[in-house]
Amino acid sequence: MKITSAEFVTSAAGLDKCPATSRPEVALAGRSNVGKSSLLNILVNRKRLARTSNTPGRTQLINFFAINDSFHLVDLPGYGFAKVPAHVKARWGKMVEGYLAGREQLCGVILLVDVRHKPTADDRQMYDWLKHYQIPTAVVATKADKLGRGRAMQNLQVVRKALPLAGADPLLLFSAVTRQGRDEVWSIIEEWIK
Ligand code: GTP
Ligand code: MG
Repeated sequence: MKITSAEFVTSAAGLDKCPATSRPEVALAGRSNVGKSSLLNILVNRKRLARTSNTPGRTQLINFFAINDSFHLVDLPGYGFAKVPAHVKARWGKMVEGYLAGREQLCGVILLVDVRHKPTADDRQMYDWLKHYQIPTAVVATKADKLGRGRAMQNLQVVRKALPLAGADPLLLFSAVTRQGRDEVWSIIEEWIK
């Protein structure tokens, strides 16, 4: 994908606040701090388009980015962040689920997991939930630079079994440090939005 433009559009606190366009969308989901905003920045070759942070819970609203004036990448708030009060967690959950279940132009979701760890109960629940709503899903095991190649490949199989991954869903390694996996992620997105 040749990127000619990548612009922040808006932040929304719920489905009813999402931009009223019919542009196709692909969303990034996953645990807090897993690297969703970092992946978005790598995809569009911009260091700080989506805000990233060492502190989990950086992204608190649904953030829309217009790519090439033709489709949206959507950076979702992460789940599973223990330090957030229960009522805030409940609100984030409703916001994300409302978006995923109700957004008509949503073409697919990239679900990020940390390649170093077995998927958590939250990850499994999110994956189940995407399958339940029949949303095309690709699972991206990120932070691959933190492991050697052999270990990363082994852990992919752990992820595959633990979710468990549905047959046709892509599963791949990614790193925002080495940019490994960037082209594969773009191919998946291109297939979804065409
Ligand atoms: P929330 O917005 O809180 O849900 O987090 P997020 O999923 O958007 O994570 P973010 O992109 O902000 O990254 C969290 C931290 O992980 C940052 O310190 C990033 O620099 C780091 N990080 C993200 N991706 C990678 C990666 O592929 N490799 C390494 N080594 N670090 C990464
Ligand atoms: Mg983020």
